[in-house]
Amino acid sequence: MEIDVFTLFPEWFDWFATQRHVRNVLEAGSRLNCVNFREHTPLSGGQVDDTPCGGGAGMVLRVDVIDAALGSHYGVDATRIREDRRVIALTPGGRRLDEEYVQELADEQAITLLCGRYEGFDERVVEHFASETLSIGRYVLSGGELAAMVVCDTVMRKLPGALGHADSAVEESFSEVLGGDPEYPHYTRPVEYRGWRVPEVLLSGHHERIRDWRLEQSRDRGRRAK
Ligand code: 6GU
Repeated sequence: MEIDVFTLFPEWFDWFATQRHVRNVLEAGSRLNCVNFREHTPLSGGQVDDTPCGGGAGMVLRVDVIDAALGSHYGVDATRIREDRRVIALTPGGRRLDEEYVQELADEQAITLLCGRYEGFDERVVEHFASETLSIGRYVLSGGELAAMVVCDTVMRKLPGALGHADSAVEESFSEVLGGDPEYPHYTRPVEYRGWRVPEVLLSGHHERIRDWRLEQSRDRGRRAK
C-alpha cells in the first residue's frame, strides 16, 4: 500500500516512521511519503495560507497552494487524482474514523491524506480535490498531522508484516470475532502480585472455559462502553 501525506510539517513523520510496526510494514514493501505544501507554493515567501474571506480568526490554507502541491506530485490535474485513489481531507467535522473505516482504507492500494492547519482548508479543496473528509473524533486538533498519524497507525497495523504474531490483529478490539466489542482483559506473570490474582479460569488450562470467559468479558465491556 502507498500512503501519501501532504503537510506543512513533514518532519513530524520521521519519528512516526521509526515505530516498529510501521518499519515492518515499510520493509514489507508499503510506502509512506510526505510532501510539504510549502515546497510547491506558487506564492512568494513560502506563503501557504491567508485570512478568511468574510473575516474571523485564524488562517486558511489556500486552494491554489494545494492545487500546485497535488498537481506537481502526481503530474496530473489535481481534480483528477481522486478518480484513481482516495484523497482524504483531515478535518474535525469529517466522517468519524472507526474500525470499519480503517479496514476500508487498509483495503486500498493507495490513499492520500491532506493535513490542514490553522482554521483548515479553503472549502474548494474539499469540493474539488478530495474524495472525502475524515475526523478522528469530536474535538479540535491544531492541525491534521496527529490525525494523519492516527490514520497511518491504525491502517498500517492491518497490513502484512505489521505485527510480530500473525493472529494478534484478528481477535483484537472491535474485530468481527468479538462481535465488534472491545477486547477481553489480558494478564501475565506474576500470577499473584500484592495479593491481586490472575482470574483462576485463565490458569485452568481449560480452553473452552477460557474462550467463554473471554467472550463474556468482551461483551460486558461492550455494554459498559455504550
Ligand atoms: Cl482530522 N483535524 C483536526 N484539525 N482536528 C481534528 C481532526 C482532524 N479530527 C478530530 N479533530
